[in-house]
Amino acid sequence: MTFAAQILTLYPEMFPGPLGQSLAGRALSEGRWSCDTIQIRDFATDKHRSVDDTPAGGGAGMVLKPDVVAAAVDHAITRQPDAPILAMTPRGRPLTQERVRELAAGPGVTILCGRFEGFDERLFEARPIEPVSIGDYVLSGGETAAIVLLDACIRLLPGVMGAASSGDEESFESGLLEYPHYTRPVEWEGRTIPEVLRSGDHAKIAAWRKQRAEEDTRLRRPDLWERHSGARDQSPSGAQRKKKDR
Ligand code: ADE
Repeated sequence: MTFAAQILTLYPEMFPGPLGQSLAGRALSEGRWSCDTIQIRDFATDKHRSVDDTPAGGGAGMVLKPDVVAAAVDHAITRQPDAPILAMTPRGRPLTQERVRELAAGPGVTILCGRFEGFDERLFEARPIEPVSIGDYVLSGGETAAIVLLDACIRLLPGVMGAASSGDEESFESGLLEYPHYTRPVEWEGRTIPEVLRSGDHAKIAAWRKQRAEEDTRLRRPDLWERHSGARDQSPSGAQRKKKDR
C-alpha cells in the first residue's frame, strides 16, 4: 500500500525537496509513498489571486484567508477522504514519535503549510484539522516542518529501512534517549571506545547501554526522565513508590 502525502502550500516546488534523496527518495521511486502538492493560490477568488489579508485587531504580518484555505482543504478531502489533515504551525501540539507511528500506519496525510502570521483560527473550528508543531522555535513557513514530519513517517514504512527502523532501542521508543554509539578506529585522537563494548559480553553490554541511556536522558532531557521515572515508579495498584525506595 502506498502512503499518500498530499501537501497544501504556496510553494509546491519545495516538494519532495530533500525527500527526493537517499532512503525517502528511493522509497518514492519504488512507490512506497507518493507526494502530491496542491497550490493554495489556485483557490483564490479575486483577480489578484490573494491568499492573505491584514490581521484583525492590527499588528504585524498577514494572515491566510480562511475561505481560500478551506476551499483548498475541501479539494484535498475529496481527493483523499481518509487521510488525517494536519496543519504545521508553532501553535500546534508537539509532534511525538508515538504520533509519527500512528500516522505511518495509516493511509497517508494531508498537510497544510502555513506562511506569514499563520491561519485564521476559524479554520480549525470549521474543518477537522490537527495543528502540529515540530518544536519551540519559529520557522519561516510550514513547508520545512512538513518535510520533517514526512521524513519521520517515511522511514517507518514497510521496506524503507528494513530491520533498522523496527529497533525497539531507538531514541523515544522506550521513553528514553538511545545509548551512545562508537565505531573503529578503537583509538582516535587519544580517546578509546569504552572497554565494555569490546568485551564480547552481551549481558554486560546491555547493562552498560541501559545505564548510559538513563544517565544521558536524565542529564539532557529532564522532561523525558521525569515522565519515564514517574511511570516506572508507579506500582501495579497505581500507588507511588516512596522516594527512599527509588
Ligand atoms: N511553522 C513555523 N514554525 C513551525 C514549527 N515550529 N512547527 C511547525 N510549523 C511551523
